[in-house]
Amino acid sequence: MDQDRPIGVFDSGVGGLSVLRALRAELPAEDFVYFSDAGHAPYGEKGEQFVSDRSLSIAVDLLERHRIKGLVIACNTATAAAVHLLRARHNQLPVVGVEPALTPAAALTKTGKVAVLATRGTLGSAKFQALRDSLRDQAEFVLVPCDGLAAAIEADDQEQIASLCRKYTRDLEGVDTLVLGCTHYPFAAQVFRQLLGPGVQLVETGEPVARQTRRLLEAQGLLKPEGSGAVHWQTTGSQEALRAAASRWLGL
Ligand code: DGL
Repeated sequence: MDQDRPIGVFDSGVGGLSVLRALRAELPAEDFVYFSDAGHAPYGEKGEQFVSDRSLSIAVDLLERHRIKGLVIACNTATAAAVHLLRARHNQLPVVGVEPALTPAAALTKTGKVAVLATRGTLGSAKFQALRDSLRDQAEFVLVPCDGLAAAIEADDQEQIASLCRKYTRDLEGVDTLVLGCTHYPFAAQVFRQLLGPGVQLVETGEPVARQTRRLLEAQGLLKPEGSGAVHWQTTGSQEALRAAASRWLGL
């Protein structure tokens, strides 16, 4: 039965676990295949062609090996580079992407000033520019490309994480809303909160993406009626590092 097939979720590394966490909460009966492309990470500083090639080849792998019934691109950089290509190439497959949460942030800000932390790849993409332009009248967006931060989170290098978070939040005068526009960054949320205090709210995308995945699968009659929600792990990097991250952040 198609409903029993797993949902594929991929990211350049462990960042997508922040999305998988929300997906498992929203869809507890579903089985997932999590693909971490850590052997090719970080995506954010590698350029669009590289990231779209990787995304297309991961989708083929997930379809051929696991016969996935839907695909969640749990990476802002890969969504910006390849969501349109993936949808065009696999037009029967429900594909859900993530993008920095500018719309909710514009609705939440009181000062009218929002910082968007994301990779250089995401912030430089045409998709992101279009999103920002569409909200130009609603808030001022301060764009902060966070080179190295996803890699530091991937390596679980706490010292480097703290130092980069400090560096990237240094000049945010008047900002009251911080968009975590890379799926790795929710794992540094604690550090951001300590640095910025309670006056700055953090916005991420895991839950809306999980709800959108439910809607899309439901519309196609692909939701699994019951099950206990297994996760199959796949990586081009270290199995051990992925296992440690899954245990640390998802208790799996
Ligand atoms: N987690 C990814 C994102 O949401 C990319 C991190 C990276 O590999 O640079 O953009």
